[in-house]
Amino acid sequence: MDISKQVVLISGANRGFGKQLALELLARGAKVYAGARNPESIDLPGAIPIKLDITKPDSVKSASETAKDVTLLINNAGTSTGASLLTGSLDDIQLEFDTHVFGTLTMIRSFTPVIEKNGGGTILNILSVLSWLNVGSGGAYSTAKAAAWGMTNALRLELAPMNIKVTGLHVAFMDTDMTAGNNSPKSDPKDIAKITIDGIESDLYEIIADELSQKIQQGLAGGVSALYPQLQK
Ligand SMILES: NC(=O)c1ccc[n+]([C@@H]2O[C@H](COP(=O)([O-])OP(=O)(O)OC[C@H]3O[C@@H](n4cnc5c(N)ncnc54)[C@H](OP(=O)(O)O)[C@@H]3O)[C@@H](O)[C@H]2O)c1
Repeated sequence: MDISKQVVLISGANRGFGKQLALELLARGAKVYAGARNPESIDLPGAIPIKLDITKPDSVKSASETAKDVTLLINNAGTSTGASLLTGSLDDIQLEFDTHVFGTLTMIRSFTPVIEKNGGGTILNILSVLSWLNVGSGGAYSTAKAAAWGMTNALRLELAPMNIKVTGLHVAFMDTDMTAGNNSPKSDPKDIAKITIDGIESDLYEIIADELSQKIQQGLAGGVSALYPQLQK
């Protein structure tokens, strides 16, 4: 895919990874709609700010009516409440699913006819290594990301006949607000944005951005004992 010819809409483009994706796409010559709940928080010269809350169907509809020339949709907006499935608040657990699953699905349902009308294109869902692995806390996030991975796989098949490629990005911790309280090693979201857009340019169905994500993907074949050795004690 020639990135310089793409018209891209990114959700959650005002900060974090979404902003780095927008900067990378602008640098490669794409037209970029930068979606944000508060468009005034967008500081991206050359991008077109667009008001967008992915959990509000009217907001999504209005964005899809404005950005009628989109050919590449990037579902990046995300939350991370840290909620445990057992003891976390149900509101937090619901928010994870409203955002990563239902919000993302609402975006895809609204933008599919737009992309199809424009001759086809690509939908990129920002997933995680935690779509494949739980780390014992924050189960709500991992469960919602796993559902988003399942949704990515299902829609890849459903949208292929419409000439729409559905791609997933799997990545471990990046240094953004989302991981501010986490001391694990983190990658620079700028570097991951480059890897991601290289993957889109190469028409990949799945972008595995780092070694940990690669290792965990391979670990899936080994089942529970490979991924959760602590359970073997
Ligand atoms: N950081 C990591 O280590 C990591 C690793 C793997 C995957 N990811 C995924 O990468 C994506 C971006 O995360 P990040 O690290 O950049 O997080 P972040 O710094 O916390 O940014 C989250 C972004 O999502 C937006 N957002 C949240 N809910 C929204 C909604 N309902 N409608 C529209 N926008 C909404 C936020 O907007 P506001 O400014 O309005 O809050 C913000 O722009 C997420 O999908 C996340 O799950 C992150």
